[in-house]
Amino acid sequence: MINNDIKIIGLIGNPVKHSKSPQMHNALFAKLGLKYEYLAFNVAAGELERAVTGLKAMNLAGANVTVPHKVDIIPYLDAISQEVVVIGAVNTIVNKDGRLIGYNTDGAGYLQSLVAETEIDLTDKRVLILGAGGAARAIAYTLGQEELAELTILNRDLDKAQALANNLSVNFPLNIAIIDEINSYAPEADLIINTTTVGMTPHTDQTLVARELIHAGQLVSDIVYNPQETRLLREAAEQGARTHGGLGMFINQGALAFAKWTGIEPDTDFMRETVLAALAAVDDE
Ligand code: ATR
Repeated sequence: MINNDIKIIGLIGNPVKHSKSPQMHNALFAKLGLKYEYLAFNVAAGELERAVTGLKAMNLAGANVTVPHKVDIIPYLDAISQEVVVIGAVNTIVNKDGRLIGYNTDGAGYLQSLVAETEIDLTDKRVLILGAGGAARAIAYTLGQEELAELTILNRDLDKAQALANNLSVNFPLNIAIIDEINSYAPEADLIINTTTVGMTPHTDQTLVARELIHAGQLVSDIVYNPQETRLLREAAEQGARTHGGLGMFINQGALAFAKWTGIEPDTDFMRETVLAALAAVDDE
């Protein structure tokens, strides 16, 4: 039996089995003595509307939304924040007096992690984003508020890169190209960000950037965090470039969501320890 005083936060996705969000948030709730519980719900695509209705009817305090529902959930929410209008995807829901409000903390979480871990000053930097999916949209939106020298988006599907660029309004040059043109763009970039799933477990031998395109003086960032050091990051380090892995984005998007639900800014070092332990436990399985 769940005590009525306990506030429930849900994770809506498919699959949700491997998510580290329940462990990350429940460890924080326990540490802070908060009467919350984070539960993962596997929701099939055809059941999304009913799941959102149920979430509201059962008065859940909030939720995270993950693949494949981040875009499709928007019509079922009562309101969305300004960043969601541009990004077109929701990863966090807050129940405000019975109204479900959608937010996206992925882009801000990425930027917080990038700056905290690398101390990069983005002013006048040439940035290259690989990919044009949901994560790329969130990151491009957030970097769009900075004073970059230029932003280039490379994607396999050029129409998706075009759609991403059309939605952004930025004060610096914005280029798009097909991923096959990476040879002309990668060597010129100060910051290269992989937002695709290329290199993720189990395909850890894959990379979109040939090692000879990377050189010292560049920062190479990968949002993949399993493995923590992707082939892209390993080769970038071998080429003398600085690297930034994806774990910080995951932790910071969670910290920002946690703050929206509870009003408390959590300890991200503790969150990192919890997630690292959860990842290590999986390795031992
Ligand atoms: P997410 O929400 O995590 O960003 P997504 O919206 O499915 O996931 O986007 C995945 C991105 O990875 C897309 O940009 C996809 O390219 P396409 O838009 O051309 O499909 C990119 N991607 C996935 N596998 C890829 C591969 N093998 N080579 C190049 N790009 C790939």
